[in-house]
Parts: sequence; C-alpha cells; structure tokens
Amino acid sequence: MSDSAIDPAMDVPAPDQPDTSAATNPEADAEFLDGEASSTSPRPTPRVIAIANQKGGVGKTTTAINLGAALAELGFRTLVVDLDPQGNATTGLGINPTSLDGTTYEVLIDGLGLEDCVEPTEVRNLYLAPASRDLAGAEVELVPMMSRETRLKRAVDAVLDDYDYILVDCPPSLGLLTLNGLAAVSEVIVPVQCEYFALEGVALLSNNIELVRTNLNPSLEITGVLLVMYDSRTKLADQVAAEIQGHFGSKVFRNKIPRNVRLSEAPSHGQPITVFDSSSRGAVAYRELAREVAGVS
Ligand SMILES: Nc1ncnc2c1ncn2[C@@H]1O[C@H](COP(=O)(O)OP(=O)(O)OP(=O)(O)O)[C@@H](O)[C@H]1O
Ligand SMILES: [Mg+2]
Repeated sequence: MSDSAIDPAMDVPAPDQPDTSAATNPEADAEFLDGEASSTSPRPTPRVIAIANQKGGVGKTTTAINLGAALAELGFRTLVVDLDPQGNATTGLGINPTSLDGTTYEVLIDGLGLEDCVEPTEVRNLYLAPASRDLAGAEVELVPMMSRETRLKRAVDAVLDDYDYILVDCPPSLGLLTLNGLAAVSEVIVPVQCEYFALEGVALLSNNIELVRTNLNPSLEITGVLLVMYDSRTKLADQVAAEIQGHFGSKVFRNKIPRNVRLSEAPSHGQPITVFDSSSRGAVAYRELAREVAGVS
C-alpha cells in the first residue's frame, strides 16, 4: 500500500493540540529525536516497540527475532508480534503457520485476544503471536472497520501486564498493518542497512512516524536507529554510517549488527541466532544490542 494510507483525516481523534507544522517540516524531527538510543540505566518495563522501516529486506524480522531472543535470555518476558503476512518471524521462530487456531489476523479482524493466539517458543521467556498468509487480506478488510488503526493497540494494551517487552515486527509498507503497529507502541526501532539510499528511506520513515504521532499516537518516539548488515571492510558502509550518525546523532545505537551468514541461516532452522549459533558474531551483536536497549550492563 502507498503512503496515502496515512491520511491526516483518518477516523481517530486528533491529539488535543496537534502540531501540524511537524507533519510538513522535516526539521521537526528534532522533538522526537531528542534523547539517546541507549541509556545507562534500565528503562521501566513494560515496553512496546515496533521494528519498522517501509523498505523491504533491511533486517526488521531478523532484529525482532534475535533482539527478542536476547532480551528473553536476559530474563525479560518477551512477546514478538508478527504483523507481516509473509510470516517470517513466525517460521523463523519455528512455528508452522498452517497449523494454528489463532493468529494476528483473528486479533485484528475478529477481536481475538492476543493471549488466545500466543505460542511459546523454544527459548524460555520468548513468546510469539504468529501470522499467517490470511493477514494479507486484513489490509483490505480493515478499511471499512471501526477504529481500524487501533485494533492491535486494544489487544496489546490488554496483555501489557504479562510481558516486559513486546516487539512488533512490521511489514515493509506503510499500510493499515504498519499503522496498527505504530499505533500500538510507544517506541520504534528502525533497522537501516548501510547502503547508498539508506538515508532517504529513513528520512521518509521519520516524516511518516511524525504524521502518525500527530494524528494517531502522540506518545510515539524513535528509540533508535540500528545499523544492520554492517561490513566494516567496505568504505561505503562507513560513509553511510557516518551520514546516518550525522543526521540522527545519539539516536543511533552504539552497537551495529555485522553482516553475518549465520544470521541468514538461522531462520530456516526455526531458531534465533542465540540458539542456532550461540557464539557467532551475530549472536554476540544481538546480545550486546539487547543490553543497550534494556539499559543494563
Ligand atoms: N546481519 C545480517 N547478516 C546477514 N544476513 C542478514 C542480516 N540481517 C538480515 N539478513 C538477511 O537479509 C534478509 C532480509 O532480512 P529480514 O527478513 O530480517 O528483513 P526484513 O526487513 O524483515 O524484510 P521484509 O521487509 O521483507 O519483511 C534475510 O534473508 C535475512 O536472513
Ligand atoms: Mg520482515
């Protein structure tokens, strides 16, 4: 779906005093970019975080699965919500999407409680709200529905007490599924691949997040920009990293995720990297990231 899904006239109450200038002014990023990606002290839980970037194949699902597994390993009860009809987080966590009674489709369309579709995973403390291909239809079926942008929020709010972290793996679009994701969370982590057009994509996403903030979810903020598939041997990776750092400053996570073939192999075994190859560079990087996100040393 196109950017037009973000319609300033959507059927949700606007915040009391919307700052409409923010929606049209790219410089207005400043307010929600204040602060740092990492912090030295633990942040209060529960935290609900979308992993989003409308660009495809940038490492959203890899981050949702492996950051989730690393947070679970730290002892946090963590739920990964698969909001992508591709169902990559579902299969990547070893759940067969064809043999499920409840999925995020029923949560969005039929009002099923998240607790009625959550599956345990192989990892202690890590749970999954799975997706099936039916979810593709939800983009269309949601259109005429009441509160179409906030149906996931209703479901997430109802289980907040059960988890420390809820990570929402968004699809590569800015349609109603992603809007439901961004409406349900208060934080966004944006994975960015260190390639030539990366910054343009992130600038577009920042503007769209600002639109969602103005019209749908005033408490939304970017927690951090995560550099992924980083290859320190290439000059381009360093140039892109420097450019993103220049734009987002301290909002860029200190830990970068390296390009690591084990990370790309793990999903076909239905395991997060922390299980599949616990000592790989990918596993170490996601563990470090989890500590940075959680603010624990
Ligand atoms: N750090 C990494 N090193 C090597 N391969 C990676 C890394 N991160 C992700 N990949 C691989 O890159 C591909 C895209 O990653 P992923 O599926 O996480 O992206 P995505 O943003 O969720 O994609 P989509 O937009 O389609 O949902 C996958 O094949 C994945 O295994
Ligand atoms: Mg994905």
